Amino acid sequence: VAEPDLKGRHVVVSAGGTREPLDPVRFLGNRSSGKQGYALARTAAARGARVTLVAANTGLPDPAGVDVVRIGTAVQLRDAVLKAAQDADAVVMAAAVADFRPATYAAGKIKKQDGQDPDPIVLVRNPDILAEISADRARPGQVIVGFAAETDDVLANGRKKLERKGCDLLVVNEVGESKTFGSEENEAVVLGADGSETPVPHGPKEALAETVWDLVARRLR
Ligand code: C5P
Repeated sequence: VAEPDLKGRHVVVSAGGTREPLDPVRFLGNRSSGKQGYALARTAAARGARVTLVAANTGLPDPAGVDVVRIGTAVQLRDAVLKAAQDADAVVMAAAVADFRPATYAAGKIKKQDGQDPDPIVLVRNPDILAEISADRARPGQVIVGFAAETDDVLANGRKKLERKGCDLLVVNEVGESKTFGSEENEAVVLGADGSETPVPHGPKEALAETVWDLVARRLR
């Protein structure tokens, strides 16, 4: 049985991947399964926290004892996270948020036209939710955690990203064709704004989640 070291705390976790619609039947999306975010939500609940899980397009069942808010797009994820973060002690952004969305949404299904090239897809930037909640904390002392998937120069790029985002902790994963996405396992380094570096050996996503909560709980004390 886990230590109830998050008892009395409210934590917000985002999970899954946003989908940015082009028309009623098509979207731009990513390969995030939501498993890491769900592991974070389950382990926080087991440690006594009240948990709000903001889930983007995951096919996973609601974890027991967790408030689940289901959303689709990055803008919807932003609204849900900002609302839940108002009284949160910690926010963990495990969701893969689309950096861009189509500039226009076609109310009817986009059709191919005989003898005509397709229209290009024009993209606009989505808000960076992690940077926004870090710069403008809903509460003093709120602990904010981001995730970063990097393919090369993992530590150096992670450090830069941590600074750019302004969060307290950044979980850096190395990703590739067969790594991390959809998998049951993970391997990561958790970088702290205080200069700390916590390696998490290859193992179940639960183990990484427990390490994240250890680091969060220490910062909340
Ligand atoms: O910049 P990058 O997408 O690599 O950063 C990843 C981290 O930032 C994740 O924690 C993700 O949830 C968050 N993010 C966000 N809003 C975005 C893009 C990413 O909050 N528009």
